[in-house]
Amino acid sequence: MTSVRIILLGATGYTGRLTAEAMVRAGLAPVLAGRRHDAVARLADRLAPLAPQPSSEPGIAVADAGDPGSVRRLIESADDVLVSTVGPFVEWGDTAVEAAVDAGAAYLDSTGEPPFIRRVFEDFGPRAAATGARLITAFGYDYVPGNLAGALALRRCRRAGRPATRLDIGYFIEGSFGISSGTRASAAGVLLAPSYARRGGALVERRASGGRTRAFDLGRGRSWKGLPVAGSEHLALPLSDPDVADIEVWLGWAGKWTPAAAYAGTALGAVAAVPGAGDRAMRALRQRLGRTTGEGPDAASRASARTVVQAEAFDAVGRPLTTVRLEGPSPYDLTAELLAWGAAMAATHAIAPGAHGPVDAFGLDALERGCADMGLVAVA
Ligand SMILES: NC(=O)c1ccc[n+]([C@@H]2O[C@H](COP(=O)([O-])OP(=O)(O)OC[C@H]3O[C@@H](n4cnc5c(N)ncnc54)[C@H](OP(=O)(O)O)[C@@H]3O)[C@@H](O)[C@H]2O)c1
Repeated sequence: MTSVRIILLGATGYTGRLTAEAMVRAGLAPVLAGRRHDAVARLADRLAPLAPQPSSEPGIAVADAGDPGSVRRLIESADDVLVSTVGPFVEWGDTAVEAAVDAGAAYLDSTGEPPFIRRVFEDFGPRAAATGARLITAFGYDYVPGNLAGALALRRCRRAGRPATRLDIGYFIEGSFGISSGTRASAAGVLLAPSYARRGGALVERRASGGRTRAFDLGRGRSWKGLPVAGSEHLALPLSDPDVADIEVWLGWAGKWTPAAAYAGTALGAVAAVPGAGDRAMRALRQRLGRTTGEGPDAASRASARTVVQAEAFDAVGRPLTTVRLEGPSPYDLTAELLAWGAAMAATHAIAPGAHGPVDAFGLDALERGCADMGLVAVA
């Protein structure tokens, strides 16, 4: 479909394999990259028959995030699109984004880790603006649906002549759900890292959840709680909707355990905050959790899980204005489809240099259509 090269680093991991399959099925002819030659070769052989035509069969490359030169060599031109699913991103993420920035290329990733997301926007973004690189971080279940739901809610309010200034966005999963080895390894980084919210038009820092939760009425008798997390919405949505002054993102996938998780996050966050010792404890925890790769819920388990994301918009004095609820495929299927779609869009559409969220990168209409094609649609 395009002569631009799409390179998937981390292709042999759990999310990487699902993403590779989505890319091959879409005819993107991805270069599947990983640190083990045998594993990427086996994966390419397995996926080749799924390519719509022989010319879109996948290629392979070997690169290790611990060897920056090998990742730089993956990118041949500034038109290339590098997609990374190598996590934890606070540990391994810099190598791929640095390579894309230096080459002036396009970059997407599957991270959900707040410190990394913030670094992409605040540190790598200005460098990308200078080299021509286009950076789109957190392009999975975390945090595309919330950006989409939030932007749809803001647009609805604008069209009704009642502009919203505050958004509350909740992320949930309906049905049975398991997590992948990579999510397990990165989860500590999501729940325990210094967190942030958007208040009064500025990013404010805070530690972990503070034990707070908030209930969302999700229809059909579902009143589910989330705990506050730092997403990409706080940094990304103001790029397309500068008037939104307050944004809070709430994570509810722990289900009935969410309140306990909020308190546990606060306690562990306090440990993580101890200068020096906290950092060491976090690194040890990540390394322990990150030893196994490539594991995650099987197709049957994924088929029984649904993504549910809700954005609620309020006016300047706190009056509720509108609610947008999106429902769609399981988080891992959605992440794979999103990364494949985003890579194809980045390969074929002009995007301004710098760091972007999903809405300002591709436009709200295109994002809404692309997500609808994956089955992520507004039900309220
Ligand atoms: N945003 C979201 O909604 C979302 C959804 C899914 C996943 N994620 C995130 O995506 C990341 C991957 O998740 P996952 O479940 O796919 O993890 P995983 O199965 O553990 O895979 C990790 C991948 O990283 C590779 N890797 C690790 N260290 C590397 C290095 N030094 N050089 C090159 N490759 C290296 C592994 O290679 P080997 O195969 O050789 O071990 C594997 O391919 C995690 O951070 C996870 O939190 C986010």
